[in-house]
Amino acid sequence: MCGIIGYVGKQKASAIILEGLKRLEYRGYDSAGVAILHGGRFEVAKKAGRVDGLMKSTSAQKITGTTGIGHTRWATHGGVTDANAHPHVSSDGKIALIHNGVIENYANIKKFLLTKGYTFKSETDTEVLCNLLAYHYEKEPAVAEGSRFLESVRKTLRHIDGTYGIAVLCTDCPAEIVAARKGSPLILGVGDGEYMLASDVSAIISRTQNVVYLKDGEMVHITAKDFSISTLDAEDISPVIDTINWKIEDAELNGYAHFMEKEIFEQPTALENAMRGRFSEDGSTAQFGGLNTTASEFRQIERFHFLACGSAWHACLIAEHLIERFARVPVDVDYASEFRYRNQPLANSKLFFFISQSGETIDTLAAMREAKRKGYKVLAINNVVGSSIGREADGGIYQHVGPEIGVASTKAFTSQLLISALLALYLARMRDMSFSDGVEFVQALKGTPDLVRKTLLLAPAIKEIAKRYAHYHDFLFLGRLSLFPVALEGALKLKEISYIHAEGYPAAEMKHGPIALISEQCPSVFFVPSGEMFTKVVSSMQEIKARKGKIIAIASEQCDLPDGLADDVIRIPECHEAVLPIIATVPVQLLSYYMAVELKRDVDKPRNLAKSVTVE
Ligand code: F6R
Repeated sequence: MCGIIGYVGKQKASAIILEGLKRLEYRGYDSAGVAILHGGRFEVAKKAGRVDGLMKSTSAQKITGTTGIGHTRWATHGGVTDANAHPHVSSDGKIALIHNGVIENYANIKKFLLTKGYTFKSETDTEVLCNLLAYHYEKEPAVAEGSRFLESVRKTLRHIDGTYGIAVLCTDCPAEIVAARKGSPLILGVGDGEYMLASDVSAIISRTQNVVYLKDGEMVHITAKDFSISTLDAEDISPVIDTINWKIEDAELNGYAHFMEKEIFEQPTALENAMRGRFSEDGSTAQFGGLNTTASEFRQIERFHFLACGSAWHACLIAEHLIERFARVPVDVDYASEFRYRNQPLANSKLFFFISQSGETIDTLAAMREAKRKGYKVLAINNVVGSSIGREADGGIYQHVGPEIGVASTKAFTSQLLISALLALYLARMRDMSFSDGVEFVQALKGTPDLVRKTLLLAPAIKEIAKRYAHYHDFLFLGRLSLFPVALEGALKLKEISYIHAEGYPAAEMKHGPIALISEQCPSVFFVPSGEMFTKVVSSMQEIKARKGKIIAIASEQCDLPDGLADDVIRIPECHEAVLPIIATVPVQLLSYYMAVELKRDVDKPRNLAKSVTVE
């Protein structure tokens, strides 16, 4: 949520910042802006709307100067206007600042600053922070200019309640940026004679692969020649420089129309990467490098607790199903945002798993810290190496699917399902699953990428179905057992990118209320597995058909569906029960994608959304 970028070097900063903003846009796209330090003053260009709009404004392109900051906004305080766009400049003109997060005590600070003569042009909490900084800078004793700048930022942040990732410029310090983080991600890129700051590696990957992941409560002071890291309490920190292990092409469209399309079709490879090296030598179980938990510790766990938000929460529900079904250990699942405040009684021998693609979702991070504070071991399933959740967890499993840029999660979600299946196998083989059942499970998981490839061949047929259904306003998605969370995921995918209202329900639950919605105008998408649930799901379909509801069935190949029961049938390959949620997800991703395209929606940047929700 909100993208941040900064540059100090020898090149024209505005060009580098604008290119970085383009790559960061998926984190927020309400407005964008740049501020460049030049000739002892700021040149600022900012605009409501997309980065393209800012790039077209001649002022943004023309700005010269080699030190600058830029921002893409996802609005919290104040509407989407040019004035509310970042960067903000203090009313004395000395400080320019960009911010990701929320300043909770901004109202009181603003009252104070008004009494001191500071003025405001926007409705944002960020401009308040910017003016408070100018106030402290003014009062800070004039020791060496650089440290005066740094110390005034440090002092200011001590008065702030809330979350922030900030980058700040000062007119007295021509080639310097001070940045700090608390609750919002911030990365320092160490380039060849230049330094960059970003909320996300995608913004800087074209210039450097060497990065320092700042931790919460840390600040960085960048000068033309060097950088130093310290804490808010002025303790020096020795930096650890990491290397990013993906390439610029991973964050590009490579011929696809949208990142969502690219990421759907990348899934076979993504799943291969997610399972690489994760099978035991005897081929009967899974293995993980980073769980930091021994088999005997796992055996003592009486309950697991899975937490996440959005699609990742749906992945938790599938993990619950798989672990309970195969490992026979009870699992609790919670929305991270609710867990944090619910203060529920928790069993002692519990182990927590947090699932998060970005590893920066603030609700998930806060819930993880809460579980940790209560003394529990916390493990993460996470895609972004170096993310806050990845680093703060006691151990975990990386998804290894490369950057996910489309706002709607696709490859990250299916890889979370794959990892959940690996985990269920791993835990099951520590308990009652036999060697031969383990071997069969492993073979099934190894075959998943090819089954996904086969399912993707359905894309042209699904596109035709999508065209015929795109103009309905309401949908139900219905499934049972592990396909109920897939129904939730299907409904979420459809609503978030096409803005069509959709609800996911357990198929049998439909008759306890939602059936009232059924008419010729409200189609249902049914997940129909072969096996014991087949006849039950068919009965639910009959109930819909009796009320003239249209049905799209996503049915396993061997399901012998009664003639005429479904209006459209999408046949998915037969597969192992642990793999079924992955295979069943692919058609709903495609269906949602093609409906959104048919409706000419902005698929990768759906309205009101942003990737990685770093505000509460
Ligand atoms: C939906 C989607 C979101 C995320 C949720 C959690 O397509 O992408 O619902 O799943 O915001 O994000 P992460 O996994 O980054 O914690």
